[in-house]
Parts: sequence; C-alpha cells; structure tokens
Amino acid sequence: MNKTKIISVVNQKGGVGKTTTAVNLSTALAAIDKKVLLIDLDPQGNLSTGLGIKSENRKINVYDLIMVEQISIEKASTKTKIPYLDIVPSGINLSGIEFELSDDKNRNKKLYNKINKIKNTYDYILIDCPPSLGILTINSLVASELLLVPLQCEFYALEGLAQLLKTVEAVKSNLNPNLQLEGIVLTMYDSRNRLSEDVINDAREHLGNKVFKTIIPRNVRLSEAPSHGLPAILYDRKCMGSEAYIQLAKEFIKRVEAV
Ligand SMILES: Nc1ncnc2c1ncn2[C@@H]1O[C@H](COP(=O)(O)OP(=O)(O)OP(=O)(O)O)[C@@H](O)[C@H]1O
Ligand SMILES: [Mg+2]
Repeated sequence: MNKTKIISVVNQKGGVGKTTTAVNLSTALAAIDKKVLLIDLDPQGNLSTGLGIKSENRKINVYDLIMVEQISIEKASTKTKIPYLDIVPSGINLSGIEFELSDDKNRNKKLYNKINKIKNTYDYILIDCPPSLGILTINSLVASELLLVPLQCEFYALEGLAQLLKTVEAVKSNLNPNLQLEGIVLTMYDSRNRLSEDVINDAREHLGNKVFKTIIPRNVRLSEAPSHGLPAILYDRKCMGSEAYIQLAKEFIKRVEAV
C-alpha cells in the first residue's frame, strides 16, 4: 500500500459543497477498493448525519480524538454502510473546543499527532472542515498534505478564496511546509444561470489548472441523499450529481497518484 494521502476539504465560506464533496468523493474512492477514512471536523455533524451514523456509534468521536491523549483513530472511528469507508464522527462538544484549547500551546497539532500514529491503514483520509478558519480548520491544515477547495458557482465565490490562501500560506511557513493546494472543485453549477459561467471563467483565469475539469452540477438528488443517511452515489447512482462525483474521483486519482 502507498503512503496515506491526507486531504482537507476546506473553504471558510458556508454551504459551498464541502460535506457533499467529502461524502461522495470518498464513496467513489471506496467503490474502487481504496481504503478511506472520513473525519467529521464540523460541530454541525452534517457528514456523520449524511452517512446515517447513529448516536450509539458516536459515543467516542472527534472531540475525544482531539482532547483525550489515549483515544486513537482506531478507537474513535466506526464503519459506515459502505465497505472500505470508515468515519470519525462529529460530537456535540466540538463547538466548545476553540475555547477549551485556547491556552494549550500544542492546540494546532492535536489532529496531526493522532493521524501521525496510524501507519498506512488507509489510502486516503479526507477531513471535512467547518465553515471557519478557527482552531479546527487549522488542525486540519496542519495534519494534511493536500487541500481540496469546493467553490460554489455564485457571485462572490472567489472573494473568500484570497483569505483562505493567505491562511494556507501562514500555516505553510509556520506549521506545515508540505501543504499543497491540490485543486478547486466548482460546485452547484447551473447552466441556466449566466453567472455560473462567469465564475467558471474567472476561476480558470486566476487559478489555471488548479481547477478540476469536472464540474459538479446543481442537482436536487445530491441534496436529498443526506436525509436518507446515504451518499448520493448510493441513493441514486445514475443522477447527474453522482455521475459528476464519480468523474471527479477519476480525475482526482489521476492527479494525486501521478508519479
Ligand atoms: N451540487 C449540488 N446540488 C444541489 N444541492 C447541493 C449541491 N451540493 C450541495 N448541495 C446542498 O447544499 C447545501 C450545502 O452543501 P454542503 O453541506 O455540502 O456544504 P458545506 O460547504 O459543507 O456547508 P457548511 O459550510 O455548512 O459545512 C446542502 O443542503 C447540500 O445538500
Ligand atoms: Mg459541511
């Protein structure tokens, strides 16, 4: 097995498709027998809910993983319904963690220290970040080598990106020199909306080949699937959204696994 690739799915802007991308990209990778771990680092817990993780399987969760020395990834993770796909679920205490860790001088490396202890159990670890640039997201950036940034095809989409990239540069120079932007995923594309087209052109102009060729369309099946506790790829394999995420997984593997 190759070295585990650790990826933050990150954008401090809310509702841009981070969780939807984390769930469906992971499922598409697991479907081709890649061993994948998802980490739900968002106090909202949408990723855990979207995968139908019951409360009895959340008793040891990402809060304990970060806060308790003895809790390992093995202990905090649970299987999903999807073969090859495990998850460290979110926990309700997570929302207080910024405050609890504010005096801890190792606060930015908590997740890194835990991930660092598992050796090549997984091909991929994807971390679903909350919509902020606080301690949780910094923990994710310190623990990762690659960033995947979903960008919603809407006005103002690029505005928050400069701030995100500034934070990434700061993390790179102070905490994690290996961090790289793997790619930008354009999400919720609506062909009837001319603005969508403008955002694509803008993104390609400014970010060049960092922008994935695959574009995720706005598709109602993608938004229905989480309420059934399933990734869209299992809920409706043939819908446009699922097809797009399967295509994205192919492009992603080609890029990430290219020598
Ligand atoms: N391509 C899409 N087509 C239609 N609906 C989508 C699409 N992608 C995401 N959604 C829906 O939009 C909402 C926001 O998506 P999602 O939760 O993935 O974003 P997020 O960036 O993780 O949000 P947050 O910042 O709150 O964590 C959800 O209700 C989701 O189901
Ligand atoms: Mg989310």
